[in-house]
Amino acid sequence: MAQNDELNLPLSGIGGIETWIDAFEYILLGASTIQVTTGIMHYGYRIVEDMIEGLSDFMVERGIKSVSGLVGQALPNLHETEAFDLERQGITQYDLEKCIGCGQCYIVCQDAAGQAIEWDAASRRPKLIEDKCLSCMLCKFVCPVSDLISYKEMPQDWKRQETAVMDKNMEQDIKLEPFTKEGPR
Ligand SMILES: Cc1cc2nc3c(=O)[nH]c(=O)nc-3n(C[C@H](O)[C@H](O)[C@H](O)COP(=O)(O)O)c2cc1C
Ligand code: SF4
Ligand code: SF4
Repeated sequence: MAQNDELNLPLSGIGGIETWIDAFEYILLGASTIQVTTGIMHYGYRIVEDMIEGLSDFMVERGIKSVSGLVGQALPNLHETEAFDLERQGITQYDLEKCIGCGQCYIVCQDAAGQAIEWDAASRRPKLIEDKCLSCMLCKFVCPVSDLISYKEMPQDWKRQETAVMDKNMEQDIKLEPFTKEGPR
């Protein structure tokens, strides 16, 4: 939308904003205002103060004078899916020396990704089943230790195990039907 000259409207960023970095990402992608609901319900209005402080500190560090100058700065980095090399193969790798045993990676992989992580309850550490990893990097997004999980390139002939999310037979079972006022036909 921010790249559409015909639209030419101010945009407001909303959805999943809790930290100054979340807000900053929306600003970089063209939002000139930010809205927050769930974050404030969880943590109170003080998170807005934290957002202002975080962004202000960043701007002072970088010598940036105004927020408006940041709006849309990352738009040149946005690309259509076709621009990516979808033949690339990868998995995650874990530097478990840094792990604090919170289990967030296991939960997200179990519920929203490839079920590629086993959880060792005794040591409270994740164990990756490499050939189930979808390299979606969701585990990296939720891990509270920023440089613990990284992407590891795999050779083109590396074969990922077929998992439920990749089962082509399941696609045939999903029927896409137009949603009408009366509900699905
Ligand atoms: C409890 C609750 C009540 C909401 N009420 C409204 C509403 O009345 N009208 C509306 O347009 N959106 C409503 N929303 C949606 C929010 O405006 C917002 O789009 C959504 O929560 C995503 O932003 P967030 O990740 O900051 O929560 C509501 C959301 C929540 C959680
Ligand atoms: S990259 Fe995705 S599939 Fe692989 S371990 Fe992380 S969350 Fe699971
Ligand atoms: S999310 Fe990160 S810190 Fe938490 S258990 Fe997984 S690897 Fe360890």
